[in-house]
Amino acid sequence: MTRLVTERLVIDDLTSADAGFLVVLLNEPSFLQNIGDRGVRDEAGAHRYLAEGPFASYRRHGFGLWAVRLLADRRPIGICGLLKRDALDDVDIGFAFLPAYWGAGYAQEAAARVLAHAHEELKLPRVVAITAPHNERSAKLLEKLGLRFQREIRLGAEQQPTRLFAPPESEGNP
Ligand SMILES: CC(C)(COP(=O)(O)OP(=O)(O)OC[C@H]1O[C@@H](n2cnc3c(N)ncnc32)[C@H](O)[C@@H]1OP(=O)(O)O)[C@@H](O)C(=O)NCCC(=O)NCCS
Repeated sequence: MTRLVTERLVIDDLTSADAGFLVVLLNEPSFLQNIGDRGVRDEAGAHRYLAEGPFASYRRHGFGLWAVRLLADRRPIGICGLLKRDALDDVDIGFAFLPAYWGAGYAQEAAARVLAHAHEELKLPRVVAITAPHNERSAKLLEKLGLRFQREIRLGAEQQPTRLFAPPESEGNP
């Protein structure tokens, strides 16, 4: 069980009680356009997503996408965490927040804490990020976190290109 605390947020494991929140978040136009359609349309779909995605990742890797909750009332406002994809050698950081909570620095606060956890506790040497080419808000956040655009990659033969961001010291060392 992971539990990270920042000035305004708690970042911890998603649970079955987050199913309703996930139905809303995963169907936000910003999520569908920038990340993809996870096919979650109702709470039953959210439970399937949790079992096959985050819960499986927690068991397999000791990390995954976590819930980001307001410290004040524990309300979930987004997800942020670490992913190990078959198509990518490095672990990558991912995040998505409900639009009502954009523009307050919450994503930056959560992602900075997750990166520190990745390096300090999980001892991951390198964490990268991938974003859709037009996702400027995400690119801006990744730059603030110290990652730099490296190049466009394709995660699979059929996939659209995505932008790879990585720590500057690892440039040229994919
Ligand atoms: C990507 C995403 C998480 C960025 O959210 P965000 O709220 O813009 O990101 P930040 O936490 O960095 O907040 C930055 C904004 O908060 C403002 N802000 C206000 N208070 C702040 C504070 N205390 N600290 C830092 N920034 C603060 C900043 O000035 C900045 O405003 P601006 O957007 O007008 O420049 C969000 O757009 C999202 O969920 N998108 C959909 C999913 C997605 O694309 N995920 C990425 C896939 S790779």
